[in-house]
Amino acid sequence: MKNYRRSIATILVAFLSISVFGQRAIRVYQDDSMPMKDRVEDTLSRMTLEEKIAILHAQSKFSSPGVPRLGIPELWMTDGPHGIRPEVLWDEWEQAGWTNDSCFAFPALTCLAATWNEDMASLYGISIGEEARYREKDVLLGPGVNIYRSPLNGRNFEYMGEDPFLASKMVVPYIKGVQQNGVATCVKHFALNNQETDRFTVNVNVDDRALYEIYLPAFKAAVQEGGTWSIMGSYNKYKKQHGCHNQYLLQDILRKEWGFEGTVISDWGGTHDTRQAITNGLDMEFGTWTDGLAAGVTNAYDNYYLAKPYLDLIKLGQVDTTELDDKVRHVLRLTFLTAMNRNKPFGSLVSDEHVLAGLGIAEEGIVLLKNKNNTLPINLHKVKRIAVVGENAIKMMTVGGGSSSLKVKYEISPLQGLKNRIGTQAEITYARGYVGDIGSAYNGVVTGQDLSDNRSEEELIAEACALAEKSDCVIFFGGLNKSNQQDAESYDRLWYELPYNQDRLLEYLCQANPNLIVVNISGNAVAMPWVDKVPAILQGWYLGSEAGNALAEVLVGDINPSGKLPFSFPKKLEDCSAHSKGDFPGANGQVHYDEGIFVGYRWYESQNIAPLFCFGHGLSYTQFKYGALKADKKELTSSDKITFTVDVSNSGNRSGSETVQLYISDLESSLPRPVKELKAFKKVKLMPGQTKSVSFTVDKSALSFFDPEKHQWVAEPGKFAAIVGASSLDVKGKVNFSLKQ
Ligand code: BGC
Repeated sequence: MKNYRRSIATILVAFLSISVFGQRAIRVYQDDSMPMKDRVEDTLSRMTLEEKIAILHAQSKFSSPGVPRLGIPELWMTDGPHGIRPEVLWDEWEQAGWTNDSCFAFPALTCLAATWNEDMASLYGISIGEEARYREKDVLLGPGVNIYRSPLNGRNFEYMGEDPFLASKMVVPYIKGVQQNGVATCVKHFALNNQETDRFTVNVNVDDRALYEIYLPAFKAAVQEGGTWSIMGSYNKYKKQHGCHNQYLLQDILRKEWGFEGTVISDWGGTHDTRQAITNGLDMEFGTWTDGLAAGVTNAYDNYYLAKPYLDLIKLGQVDTTELDDKVRHVLRLTFLTAMNRNKPFGSLVSDEHVLAGLGIAEEGIVLLKNKNNTLPINLHKVKRIAVVGENAIKMMTVGGGSSSLKVKYEISPLQGLKNRIGTQAEITYARGYVGDIGSAYNGVVTGQDLSDNRSEEELIAEACALAEKSDCVIFFGGLNKSNQQDAESYDRLWYELPYNQDRLLEYLCQANPNLIVVNISGNAVAMPWVDKVPAILQGWYLGSEAGNALAEVLVGDINPSGKLPFSFPKKLEDCSAHSKGDFPGANGQVHYDEGIFVGYRWYESQNIAPLFCFGHGLSYTQFKYGALKADKKELTSSDKITFTVDVSNSGNRSGSETVQLYISDLESSLPRPVKELKAFKKVKLMPGQTKSVSFTVDKSALSFFDPEKHQWVAEPGKFAAIVGASSLDVKGKVNFSLKQ
């Protein structure tokens, strides 16, 4: 009898496992040869109401639950955008204390934009995607493409500059690179997040033309050309609705006009209203912390706007499940593309390739702003004593700045980089010069540096000047430093000038030794009242792990600089349109972008305001000569294309790269237009004596403006000029053409 029972049980188990196995084999959603749509619908049909609600919101600081019962995995997010954020505790911003989460820091995105090299953006995306993949992350919270409206915005360093065309071109390869790793980009912060002051509450008043021509194009390119799998809503309001549940931005524009099929993820704490979140396009809610905890609820996440409050509304019959199912579809699609993607490659962390990529991007992004009398590169045959001055020569820059702060495997400081490169070829001495931020920790990541210094300002200046006097040249590393109000999330800068009395120190330094090279470390433009007294200036950005090596190579000339500014440096803050025509950061909960489309160089040129350094500016250690700009036709119809060609030669004696920039000027228009706008660019590498022919083909989209009345892009027949330049102001050639009816 016993044996009989046992064999019945065995048969039953065998039968069950076959049927379970059989059932598994036919589960459509697990079969990645099936179309995505079928897999999504199949999963949807198997999920309970509670399971659907659960995947719409966080379960921890950076993860959302999957559907354990169905084997749908969790989704794990990470910042972004220039390195993989260290692991934090489940419910806290503090460190989890892992020892395997130190990453490679890539240069911040202003530097990437300054390369003007789409191949570099691709390499960047592939590399950071591999780091995210290795860390088992599904969504990288970046890149950021908010337009540089004011030099005071604390987060400009995370973005790609003031020009919508440049940002659009650079964001696309970044996205493709990341996503080929089975890691989604989450392009942020959609949209109009152009300041940190009052970022959770400020309502942005902007006209449609500026919205479509300036603030949206990079997001549109990210969606339509880059194919980003997710996008992050912004904190601020537009038309009085928060960006994370904004009907105009998310429904009307993103979904309907652009056809976005991906997932809308809230910024952390950017969700404020259940009904708006339901109807206005938000798919996943993160960071709302912690409604309900005070009421003694065990799991705060259940009280997120898209959690129990949503479930209750459905159960009460006050909302139906149409939106719910759509949201779930979006989240499932994201999951299939990332966490459930069986074809994704393995990643790697701090690989040799990443080091080379980061170094290469840094080398290409550094901008030579000024180089009087060929002060740079430093001639090590002549220069035997180098005084390095400034806190930024030694301060770790990868820690700090907000959510993009990193825990790095290593970071080469500028001083270390110079020592590595120069060795015994010259004597390098160091003086602090000023004391800025002595902080050495961020969110529990400790740099290990002790930057405390009790000396007075006069003592510091005296020491630096004494060293400068005895040296053949002085390299000053200053600028901002990612501490609060100095290029950091949550805080805008308070003023345009350099902090910590650096301007005063620089006045003394150029008297002590006029052979002074200034390296400005920042992600923002800064005032330079000493500009005429200093022969050489480099824009050094936040260059990540390889910062010091890249800077040293440029300073001594191993690398010929080829970066171009992705934003203008105004002479003074009031020159900037956000501070003269519009307002920044606004008042009483409102900010007015009254400058409209006239942002950055579009404003300076229209007002004839000479900037300190213009958009697109960047010098080289060699010289480039431009031939005449030619067009392949004089007239084009609206279905035509037109090609402009220019020969560019390297007339100097070392190889170098030049970014040839094509701007279009609308010579007769029914609406006001900028003097000219960037519509194409190409970076070419040229050996000494070499000439390359550079061609740009554009169509009427390069001639168009956004007509707010018609609510569409319009290319008005009439006269145009194509202008080729080495920067927005260094015009090398011009050719007129017209668009026929
Ligand atoms: C930032 C986002 C970031 C998120 C998660 C927010 O405060 O605005 O850019 O991705 O936090 O850290």
